[in-house]
Amino acid sequence: MQIHTSIDSLRAARRTAGKVAFVPTMGNLHAGHIDLVRQAAEKADSVIASIFVNRLQFGPSEDFNSYPRTLAADCERLEAAGVAHVFAPDEKVMYPEPQHYHVDPAPAQISILEGEFRAGHFRGVATVVLKLLNIVQPDVALFGKKDYQQLMVLRNMVRQLAIPIEVLPGETVRADDGLALSSRNGYLSPEERAEAPRLYRQLVRVCEAVRRGDHDFLKLETESVAELAAHGWKPDYIAVRRRADLQPPMHADDPLVVLAAAKLGRTRLIDNLEI
Ligand code: PAJ
Repeated sequence: MQIHTSIDSLRAARRTAGKVAFVPTMGNLHAGHIDLVRQAAEKADSVIASIFVNRLQFGPSEDFNSYPRTLAADCERLEAAGVAHVFAPDEKVMYPEPQHYHVDPAPAQISILEGEFRAGHFRGVATVVLKLLNIVQPDVALFGKKDYQQLMVLRNMVRQLAIPIEVLPGETVRADDGLALSSRNGYLSPEERAEAPRLYRQLVRVCEAVRRGDHDFLKLETESVAELAAHGWKPDYIAVRRRADLQPPMHADDPLVVLAAAKLGRTRLIDNLEI
């Protein structure tokens, strides 16, 4: 496996890599990332992964500085998973000058759910992903459903800007107790880690109730918020939405997803479940 820190080096390698599947990450890799790599390997001749903690997608009071950076361990995991090339630029490579050109996702997307609570987040994600796609020029790019709204924003970006790649979703990988794997789980104290699967259990509860025919979404959402708050959480939202655009359900046969974000101590966790 080769590790590239410059755009020129990565591009030269890409030219001879055949059909390429690309897995962008911010590092501190876990089994969820590795599952995307495994899926990527089935789709192409070579897998390229990137590791870059993208300042543009963090708000001023968010965890950019403390975000875990574990490049050596990450590269070992990627090599063991069969990745051919890692693109691990530093900030001067990705942003040698202030980034004045941005991708602005649809207002309807950035005003809801994560967009409502993380102003500028999806603009930062879309901008860096477009830039990474232009650098790597993959045939396929993989993104996890764990970040459901991110996957949707990026799918829409690729379609609307006619970017010639195929976007493939990866299922959310969870710990045995249901907690979705996340780099931010490392912030949790042992007590918080024991409490954390409650978020997933609430998603399961809502999901099962809807499947049984309970369509009083507001009641289900309010109950889950109250249940989390009663156990010390600060929920941002629990919301039953249409899968297609994450807007409130309109028709009885809309395919649905329930999404949640809540803070446990200082750690903000997100998760979702397709109904
Ligand atoms: P990061 O949080 O490192 O996630 C990289 C990819 O792994 C994303 O597509 C994410 O959805 C996926 N992922 C995270 N946890 C997962 C899990 N438990 N199961 C399956 N997939 C999981 O998402 C980002 O980085 C950044 O926003 C990025 C797209 C790289 C742009 O900076």
